[in-house]
Amino acid sequence: MGTSSKNLFEKFNHQSLIVKGQRQALEPGFVPERLPHREEEAEQLAEILSPSLKNFKPSNVIIFGKPGVGKTSVVKFVENEMIKAIQSSLDTKIKIIDVNCGIVDNPYGVLLAVGDGLLDTWEEKLPFTGWPLDKLYNTVVEKINNFAGIAIIVLDEIDKLVRKSGDSVLYQLLRINEIANQGRVCILGISNDLRFTEYLDPRVKSRLIEETMVYNPYNATQIYDILRDRSLYAGIADSIDESAMKTCAALAAQEHGDARRAIDMLRIAVELTEKGSEGRILDDTIYEAKRKLERDVVVETVSTLPLHSKLVLFSIALIDEIKNGGSSTMGEFYDLYEKIADRMGVSSLTQRRVADIIGELSNLGLTDSKVQSFGRYGRTTTATLNYGSSKIKEILIADEMLSQLKDVKPMQKSLPVS
Ligand SMILES: Nc1ncnc2c1ncn2[C@@H]1O[C@H](COP(=O)(O)OP(=O)(O)OP(=O)(O)O)[C@@H](O)[C@H]1O
Ligand SMILES: [Mg+2]
Repeated sequence: MGTSSKNLFEKFNHQSLIVKGQRQALEPGFVPERLPHREEEAEQLAEILSPSLKNFKPSNVIIFGKPGVGKTSVVKFVENEMIKAIQSSLDTKIKIIDVNCGIVDNPYGVLLAVGDGLLDTWEEKLPFTGWPLDKLYNTVVEKINNFAGIAIIVLDEIDKLVRKSGDSVLYQLLRINEIANQGRVCILGISNDLRFTEYLDPRVKSRLIEETMVYNPYNATQIYDILRDRSLYAGIADSIDESAMKTCAALAAQEHGDARRAIDMLRIAVELTEKGSEGRILDDTIYEAKRKLERDVVVETVSTLPLHSKLVLFSIALIDEIKNGGSSTMGEFYDLYEKIADRMGVSSLTQRRVADIIGELSNLGLTDSKVQSFGRYGRTTTATLNYGSSKIKEILIADEMLSQLKDVKPMQKSLPVS
């Protein structure tokens, strides 16, 4: 290679759109200091929690709302404000314990997090595993007693905990207030699933849900304000067309008013602009960002499916290819799925399980499924792919285990007569 050739990395060293300001303001973990259009919610929550500043137990509270409507952000914001308030008052004893139940979704993990949250800095942490649950529980109760203050336990994504492990640990946490002599527990639950309370035992439900807050989806104007504020944080406010910002807000508002979606789109638009030549974020950049985001979501969803769901999806995609679109019936894709499973050397699931998988694929938005009735000939489940079959196959084959299906070609005659 001649000495005059360009450096290998040169073409990747794009002009940065974010000159000043902070790039991380557009990253998912960023916690802004201002939350436009959630001021009232923050104040309401502060009011509910305020008795703790006088060492009284506040009401337990559950916050509901669709994804991306600012639940976690508001709680974090209020927590920070509370920490500041405690610092200036010597006689309040409050501990805030954050538990992300998306990650910690079992009783041991939750009790451990609460126990560790109550430790003084010099104390040794509780064992990560191995203790019987009742020993861990008794230790937690003892710690609350010794602490003799208010422990605010924030259970973010509480629905995941209940779905995975039932409500026994909630019952135990709530019971602390009855068995501890000193010290009280307040539970703040956050959920984007309104229905999870149906799974609760009535005794748990009535104690847990003393206050309820529901956060509404943002409308386009509100998302616009959030985006505007965020672009100021990121230092890109001058590099984005007014109409592009409005488009971004409108698109996110259509999708259940999700601020996360809007910020994700903006971040991708920044990346696209840095690679392109326009130097500004335009309407088209936003549309392109939206498409890219959707692609990324499909890749993520498909590539994290369990093996058999992947095989079922592969069968549906193959039939879609044979038929050139349209839906396939259970008879068709089950037969193909069995053959594919056999080829992979795994035993196939029953039709009933496959019907469940079809339901799950449909819930994820990858397929549309229906139960069709053929009068006296009975009923069958049909499935239609919501994305291009070649794209779905490509993502599936990227999985090492499924790579051997690369050469499986659609053949009309492989279609069973249904
Ligand atoms: N009012 C707001 N002002 C500024 N940023 C916001 C606002 N609401 C939400 N966001 C931002 O949108 C993203 C999603 O917010 P958050 O994580 O609080 O949503 P959530 O309701 O907890 O969603 P999920 O149910 O998915 O957990 C975050 O990046 C957050 O900073
Ligand atoms: Mg959240």
